[in-house]
Amino acid sequence: EGQRRLVAVSNRVGPLNDEGKAGGLAVGLSDALRRRGGLWFGWSGETSDEGTFKEAQTQVQGEVSMTTIDMTEEELEGFYYGYANRSLWPLLHYRLDLAHFDRQSERAYRSVNQRFAARLAPLIEDEDLVWVHDYHFFFLGSELRQSGFKGKIGFFLHIPFCPPEIFTALPASHDLVRAMLAYDVVGFQTDTDRRNFVGFCLRELGGEKLEGHRVRVGDRVVRADTFPIGIDAPGFERFAVSPEASEHEEMLREIAGDRLQIVGVDRMDYSKGLVERFRGFERLLEDYPENRGKVQFLQVAPLSRSELDAYVELRRELEELAGHINGRFATLDWTPIQIMTRGFTRRALAGIYRAARVCLVTPLRDGMNLVAKEFVAAQDPDDPGVLVLSRFAGARAELPDALIVNPYSTDDVARALQRALTMPFDERDRRWRAMREAVFAGPSSNWCDAFLGALENSGVD
Ligand code: G6P
Repeated sequence: EGQRRLVAVSNRVGPLNDEGKAGGLAVGLSDALRRRGGLWFGWSGETSDEGTFKEAQTQVQGEVSMTTIDMTEEELEGFYYGYANRSLWPLLHYRLDLAHFDRQSERAYRSVNQRFAARLAPLIEDEDLVWVHDYHFFFLGSELRQSGFKGKIGFFLHIPFCPPEIFTALPASHDLVRAMLAYDVVGFQTDTDRRNFVGFCLRELGGEKLEGHRVRVGDRVVRADTFPIGIDAPGFERFAVSPEASEHEEMLREIAGDRLQIVGVDRMDYSKGLVERFRGFERLLEDYPENRGKVQFLQVAPLSRSELDAYVELRRELEELAGHINGRFATLDWTPIQIMTRGFTRRALAGIYRAARVCLVTPLRDGMNLVAKEFVAAQDPDDPGVLVLSRFAGARAELPDALIVNPYSTDDVARALQRALTMPFDERDRRWRAMREAVFAGPSSNWCDAFLGALENSGVD
């Protein structure tokens, strides 16, 4: 029908089904590709001696081809663990204190970007819409251009973009943002992220703002815009009443008995504010003792990037804190807090959300956070739960009817929890309805269609 082919590039590829998915990128992209078809290109998840030179693997599922290549151990170390996750991830989440910079990993990062572009180039045509995702591939667009690709290339950042004052700490920060100017459209989750990026272009690179959300730097014009990612809300709502969900919901309700269930679901990552959240829960039991024996908190926290020191340290700290809280408050028949590192399918999670009275989404900084939206979509209309949401999550912009907290303030988290646990039905219902409307607003294809529409129209005045 004359629709251009979508070529999506991201470090992680797949799955297209309901298996455990790590993060919003996997959720958003698999939804988009299932709907629209196309090519999904990225890393195989494997290392081998030939690395990025090894023959690509292609798996076809319906209208979607997933083509992946390997990396060598060395590439993985420098590109993924090194630059992407020890430099860029903490930096873009405003955590200069955790960011490490070294030139070997910077080199590995650029070389992997160049290698992925070289492997992708023969698979694409100028009529395709090439859409590159996330902080692993800032340089991929400019590498594709250098290899002669003339078609449209867009980029979407799933995580925050920090203020220029922080971003300039990155050695070669100018090179990185200049490389981003090779894209036709650069998309962000929130206006704050977009403003931070544009601010860098203006103040550091001497760019100027044009109309239509465009920025000019030298002879490059790029559209920098906001495309908040959403969920397939009707689909997730159906998940929540599937047999698998109901099984989990009932199990959790049975275990909870008369106790109110509090849940959190996050990759185990320091950006998620888990330590602060646990302290907030402890403060609840301290300051509002009527909750002792009456609430239980389940934190699902699948391990992530667990080779890195910061993540090893976080896990240790969380397990210690959970042990401390249980040791301090547990009784023979009550364990206040439970932390689980195993993952669940999204159907199972939907059931867990539905069994919960309160969901804690309290990141210190988060691009969007789809748990917040999924929790809302999964609720039982006759007995909806309360969302406690960090002011620093991208989702906050669309969900002002959550209880908004400052995750750094232990008292604020404890107070919001107490308010959520004692909220009268009418208020609970009213807030949930307002959030539901926001989560269901527009077709589920909104994010993808909005971005690809902007990409198709880029350069057309
Ligand atoms: C975040 C990032 C994704 C990443 C995911 C899981 O959601 O935006 O790009 O894939 O975390 O992290 P991992 O390092 O396991 O891919």
